[in-house]
Amino acid sequence: MKDMYILAIESSCDETSCAIVKNGCEDIATIINTQIDIHTLYGGVVPEIASREHLKSITLVIDECLKKAKMTMDDIDAIAVTYGPGLIGSLLVGIEAAKTLSLMYDKPLVKVNHMAGHIYANNLTKKMKYPLLSLVISGGHTEFIYMKDEYSFEKIGSTLDDAVGECYDKVARVIGVGYPGGPIIDKLSKKGEHEYNLPLPLNDDSYNFSFSGLKSAVINLAHNCEQRGEELNKENLARSFQDVVVETIKKKTLKAIKDYKVKRLVVAGGVSANSAIRAALEELCKENKIDFSVPELKYCTDNATMIGAAGYYAYKNGQIADLNLNACPGLDLG
Ligand code: KG4
Ligand code: ZN
Repeated sequence: MKDMYILAIESSCDETSCAIVKNGCEDIATIINTQIDIHTLYGGVVPEIASREHLKSITLVIDECLKKAKMTMDDIDAIAVTYGPGLIGSLLVGIEAAKTLSLMYDKPLVKVNHMAGHIYANNLTKKMKYPLLSLVISGGHTEFIYMKDEYSFEKIGSTLDDAVGECYDKVARVIGVGYPGGPIIDKLSKKGEHEYNLPLPLNDDSYNFSFSGLKSAVINLAHNCEQRGEELNKENLARSFQDVVVETIKKKTLKAIKDYKVKRLVVAGGVSANSAIRAALEELCKENKIDFSVPELKYCTDNATMIGAAGYYAYKNGQIADLNLNACPGLDLG
């Protein structure tokens, strides 16, 4: 089969990104323009600002990506774009850019679910084989997706309230260590010890998660310390919090692997960059003789390369859109 080059666009949150990906597995060129510095001033993503920033940089990012790849639009076979889930204003910028390229250069337009993108980031390291279980952990999602086959998604469990990344970000905000909270807490926890007793969330037999109780426990602890004039040991709190997160993720993942009798675990999403979660799940898989896969760190958080990887399989599985394609902020997977 002829090689297929996909130009992919991702703009669902606060990263404007364009990538060219060959055959769903090879990163030819990737450009990511992050807005983190701007949103840090507000302690979180401000949707209105995010859309305006995407608008400023989208064409520059696409142009830079083609230049980096030393390619022109003639070399491109299809355009893939994230159409949800995400912030509506942010998504629309990427979608309009993708539609324009598709119309101008007469290339197929491929619609990609952002969460499918996160999962397929794994295909950039090692070709995915099926059936598999995927644990998707990001700023907006925490779910188990069972994939019986290529580009088929069945959600078997998810968070009942906060996503795990959201919980990391809120905890970081409460203890005043900055944004985004995940990487900061991850770093702090390495210097700390397990001092604080926090509740293990939703300690049941389901495949669901719940992180709001854990978040509230941390908030209460911080407020109580403040009221008593005691100093909170941030490193120890980060460690205690992260230990509980790892414990709950490990427990639920083991159950899902066993019940679904899968031989492969694929971890995905921004939180899959977490050092303790990566290590714990790798160990768990080793103990249970399960093939373990996690994306390279640079492909864990939002990027268009993962959309190009998923886009290849989306194209093969008929996910072609026309110029009516709209943003789906609450788009589900499976
Ligand atoms: O996938 P992503 O880039 O955006 C969404 O689709 O949500 O994930 C962003 C989330 C943020 O909540 C961020 O704090 C978290 O991923 N994150 C981490 C780490 N790096 C990023 N959480 C824990 N440990 C990390 N090292
Ligand atoms: Zn994401």
